Amino acid sequence: MKLWGGRFEGGPSEVFDRFGRSLHFDKTLIDVDLRGSAAHARGLARIGILSAAECAALVQALEAMREEAKDPSYFDNSAEEDVHTVVIRKLKERLGADLADKIHTGRSRNDQVSLDVRLWLREQIDEARQLLTGLMAELLALAERYPDALIPGYTHTRRAQPVLWTHYLLAYFEMFARDWERLGDARRRVNVMPLGSGALAGSGFPIDREAVAAELGFDSVTRNSMDVSGDRDFLLDFEHAANLIMLHLSRLAEDWILYTGEEFGFMDLGDGVTSGSSMMPQKRNPDSLELIRGKAGRVFGGYMGLLVTMKGLPMTYNRDMQEDKEPLFEVVSQLLQSLEMAAVVVQTAVLKPQVTHKAVEDSWAVATDLADALARAGMPFHQAHKVVGRLVLESVRAGKNAKDWTAAELTAFSEHFTPEMALLLDPAEGIKTRGLKGGTGPDAVATAFAEAKQRLAAMRG
Ligand code: ARG
Repeated sequence: MKLWGGRFEGGPSEVFDRFGRSLHFDKTLIDVDLRGSAAHARGLARIGILSAAECAALVQALEAMREEAKDPSYFDNSAEEDVHTVVIRKLKERLGADLADKIHTGRSRNDQVSLDVRLWLREQIDEARQLLTGLMAELLALAERYPDALIPGYTHTRRAQPVLWTHYLLAYFEMFARDWERLGDARRRVNVMPLGSGALAGSGFPIDREAVAAELGFDSVTRNSMDVSGDRDFLLDFEHAANLIMLHLSRLAEDWILYTGEEFGFMDLGDGVTSGSSMMPQKRNPDSLELIRGKAGRVFGGYMGLLVTMKGLPMTYNRDMQEDKEPLFEVVSQLLQSLEMAAVVVQTAVLKPQVTHKAVEDSWAVATDLADALARAGMPFHQAHKVVGRLVLESVRAGKNAKDWTAAELTAFSEHFTPEMALLLDPAEGIKTRGLKGGTGPDAVATAFAEAKQRLAAMRG
């Protein structure tokens, strides 16, 4: 069955028929397609295209089909082009052609497919946001398990300055909080009702678009039919947000793949999220995190693909746009799975604070604290930097750590060193000098943590 056969003398070639079909993937949209069609039927009834009885029969049939379509075998033996065509065929079987053929009045598959994807994606975004806040809650719980733990903060993968473990985890909290907002922004642009745009020029029927929008839970209606027909920005907005989530997950995965390895030894992951080697009996590999890192690449590919598909398209709809769906479904599926996996990994994570403290102490990560102290006492910072640089050089030559130095010994490098400054050789003291908002000082971090908890509670509503 075709929705467009009238002006054709011959049917499509077998190859083109196969080539153009989208049912095997756009069947994902069956439920939203049926809900959208029911709302459209009510819209048609309000303007007298359908009688009340016809509308009731259509809506009832569409509702029944929603139930039946939950069975995966619903699409067996369907040779239709796409999900919209299957729905019409099944409506005809139920209600007869005279009634079923009315459902597509004033509608094109172009505004229909936009409606379907918007309805579907809106729910996926809500799901993603929930998983994201679940992950954020796990990060806070992990921080709470080690309130005083210090780790080396890195730049260039070199130990740089001591930071609180909580401060490190809150950095990821901030990334995911922005991601949560970005998903919300994307949702706002997804949640606009396109039906009534027709193929490109607007419907020829005075459908009450606002009423259809209200029925389907949309915030507003689209303003330009040509724009609707050619627009996939709302997918790109979502995919951008999804990409950044995957990027952040991938960086967290990368950190922890390193931190759980023998060379760092900072953390352990639970047995439940690691796997062994078929050959090397001792191995315990962080596959869950590696898969998250790997899936990020796939998700980026989906986004790039849609950008390239769209970039050269003339106004308005072009069949190229059918290629938006498989990557979108893939992006959503990989995103949701990765978020779910990441939360479980965080749940199992065990920090080894004695190891991370030793890494801080073995590295002169406190050097900046000493230089800052000299500068606070009036020494120009570049000079203070040089003084401490000399101290570090001498310490490295002598094979000593920061904590091996006494206050008296420091004065050999500068008369401005005081006993109070020597306290900063202890990293737990040094971090107290970073108490400004956003810094790793314990009070600042405690405040940030409390705020994070409140912010998360507000996000979870
Ligand atoms: N399967 C099509 C898509 O996903 C539906 C729209 C078809 N419209 C058309 N003019 N051929 O884009």
